[in-house]
Amino acid sequence: MPYLSPALNVMTTAARKAGRKLIRDFGEVENLQISLKGPADFVSVADQRTESILVGELQKARPGYNFLVEEAGVIEGPDKSHRFVIDPLDGTTNFLHGIPHFAISIGLEREGQMVSAVVYNPVTDEMYTAEKSHGAYLNDKRLRVAARRELRASLAATGIPFLGHGDHGRFEKELHAVMAVTSGVRRFGSAALDLAYVAAGRFDAFWEHDLKPWDLAAGMLLVREAGGVVSDLEGGARMLETGAVLASNEPLHPQFLKLLKEARRS
Ligand code: IPD
Ligand code: CA
Ligand code: CA
Repeated sequence: MPYLSPALNVMTTAARKAGRKLIRDFGEVENLQISLKGPADFVSVADQRTESILVGELQKARPGYNFLVEEAGVIEGPDKSHRFVIDPLDGTTNFLHGIPHFAISIGLEREGQMVSAVVYNPVTDEMYTAEKSHGAYLNDKRLRVAARRELRASLAATGIPFLGHGDHGRFEKELHAVMAVTSGVRRFGSAALDLAYVAAGRFDAFWEHDLKPWDLAAGMLLVREAGGVVSDLEGGARMLETGAVLASNEPLHPQFLKLLKEARRS
């Protein structure tokens, strides 16, 4: 059984409640009013509604905690030692296109350290949880990152820059290098689930640039608690500051890091 701290209990309950609403909205996706936040960066009504449900539920259970959430930004509370970092809908583009691959992501920081994580895919009812020092789980199952040691056997995931976002030339170089030496590369469209899949041993590695703290917060703890390694793309620990991430297992992480670094320099 997963280790369910009181905080994780509150977070999974909030995610399930918001997930039920998200599923109903997904069923009516064509009828949703959508607004344009920027080029190819849509925010649906469902997105905002999910965020309100999550913040409301979490504030009820943990009054005083701070929040960093994608839509509303910073919500300050008097308890400066705790902060929820939330992406109410990761995989918005999939959602809007009727593709059932998206998630709710909730991380909880205590004194600046990520201590609890929830990534929930309401369509598949897959609840990924992690508590610092207590492991990572998918529903009731303990997670371990994959054991593969060789690039040639590994399956990598990434995020492809899109219209108005990211460095397209840099990505082409990285992709060129990775596809030449691995079993394949996937682009599924939800960074939170990409990280959860690394934790679950489905992907052997995941890299992406230009992510936001709410894309990464929960997923990074999942990977680490599943025995994996997470760094930025220089091998440092500035994931949240730079938005760049590489998550993998111990034997493959240095190999991917070197490959990607050399590709960018080429
Ligand atoms: C996006 C997803 C996607 C990643 C983008 C993110 P959103 O988040 O995580 O996989 O490639 O960079 O912005 O907009 O769906 O919450
Ligand atoms: Ca996101
Ligand atoms: Ca989002």
